[in-house]
Amino acid sequence: MDAAKPVRESISEYAEFALPNDANGLGNVLGGKVMHLVDLAGAMAAIRHARRPVVTASVDSMQFLHPVRIGQLIILRSSVNRVFRTSMEVGVQVHTENLLTGARLHTCSAYLTFVALDENGKSTPIAPVIPETEDEQRRYRQAGERREYRLARRHPPI
Ligand SMILES: CC(C)(COP(=O)(O)OP(=O)(O)OC[C@H]1O[C@@H](n2cnc3c(N)ncnc32)[C@H](O)[C@@H]1OP(=O)(O)O)[C@@H](O)C(=O)NCCC(=O)NCCS
Repeated sequence: MDAAKPVRESISEYAEFALPNDANGLGNVLGGKVMHLVDLAGAMAAIRHARRPVVTASVDSMQFLHPVRIGQLIILRSSVNRVFRTSMEVGVQVHTENLLTGARLHTCSAYLTFVALDENGKSTPIAPVIPETEDEQRRYRQAGERREYRLARRHPPI
């Protein structure tokens, strides 16, 4: 396993114009489009940290705080909150920017769990992550609580 790495090495940013092709019948961006971008942005941070292929094991619940309009810029920021053994929690924050005014709004946040894979496609241990700032330490602590809740719901009855 690699040596521990600071959270800052995994910080990733991704931005995309909201285009008409992404719209629902009201002219706003489909929630599923934003979820797709969240998965991509999360994977970027996870791969940057693990330097291995990863798969999405789970996505915690997401709430959309306001609609995203066509023509706005969707900006995603992601980083690894905590590494467990073969899995890690990644946090993704989504903002939208009206490029004509510069106004930015927080659209949603999400926590995703990614699992790193070895050459045979099996889950494999990941280097620990070092939280340095106060925010990173808070996210690290809270990620432990979220994991308990997440794993308790891992195999829900169908
Ligand atoms: C995620 C996956 C690799 C887990 O495989 P598994 O055989 O259950 O493996 P394990 O039980 O050894 O778990 C591996 C790690 O995943 C974590 N994990 C498994 N299911 C999880 C879930 N629902 N939520 C959070 N973490 C989960 C385990 O806690 C473990 O983490 P740890 O090593 O850090 O403790 C497997 O279920 C899988 O490949 N799923 C499909 C992933 C995928 O294709 N995603 C895209 C869907 S289109």
